[in-house]
Amino acid sequence: MTEHSLPLNPGKLPRHVAIIMDGNGRWAQRRGLMRVRGHVAGMESVRVVTRLARRLGISYLTLFAFSEENWQRPAMEIRVLMALMRSYLHRELAEMRDNQIALKAIGNLKQLPEKVLRDLEQTISATAEGARMVLTLAVSYGGRSEILHAVKTLAKDLVAGRLKPEDIDAALFSCYLYTAGMPDPDLLIRTSGEMRISNFFLWQLAYTEIYVTSTLWPDFDKEEFIQALLSYQNRERRFGLTSDQVKTENG
Ligand code: FPP
Repeated sequence: MTEHSLPLNPGKLPRHVAIIMDGNGRWAQRRGLMRVRGHVAGMESVRVVTRLARRLGISYLTLFAFSEENWQRPAMEIRVLMALMRSYLHRELAEMRDNQIALKAIGNLKQLPEKVLRDLEQTISATAEGARMVLTLAVSYGGRSEILHAVKTLAKDLVAGRLKPEDIDAALFSCYLYTAGMPDPDLLIRTSGEMRISNFFLWQLAYTEIYVTSTLWPDFDKEEFIQALLSYQNRERRFGLTSDQVKTENG
């Protein structure tokens, strides 16, 4: 299928799609495999979704790859996830550069093993010129920690007299978050059917459309992604207004 035959409205695509990639462990366990095999299989979905997002012209794609809470998983699983991250960075670098994708990473990156952090930083700097899509990996990421980090930095600026309390509004606060300069997600996709946001983007999801599918992440393919985008295109985003007001605004 080419992008021209997709039943999507190209004028109504989300600018920023964020994904909670869940269900790798269950995917593997259902097949009698070790959980980590699910993460390996999930890498293919990462590739498929990234390629399609880029082809469609989605400007920002954020993938929740590893949460702060995930550090409590068995050491072997963490080791495999970190190794997968490194092999992903090595394997995808050329494609990212060819497709003008800029990689970014958000989270408490200092917690990452040195080699993972080094590879991440190298890939981020090698793709920094990419102007067609920003691919953000949320790693060692927690929404509450992000907000606390922002509050502490902001408090330092207040104490130092660089800011006045009356300067603080939502736009200014957003500049202190890891996502500074990025639009809030228009669409959040969560796989594997759980109806929660799991400490992801607590500030940024205020008006995001949420799409939950029971499909497990390794089974999330091109068609599933298109279904999520179609569902988004059929939503009426009201941002607190009435339906009539939105219709008047949109002409
Ligand atoms: C959730 O499934 C998934 C994760 C904790 C990791 C997601 C990571 C990848 C897809 C690979 C690394 C990604 C990149 C971009 C390098 P789960 O293990 O919680 O599944 P379960 O709920 O069925 O146990």
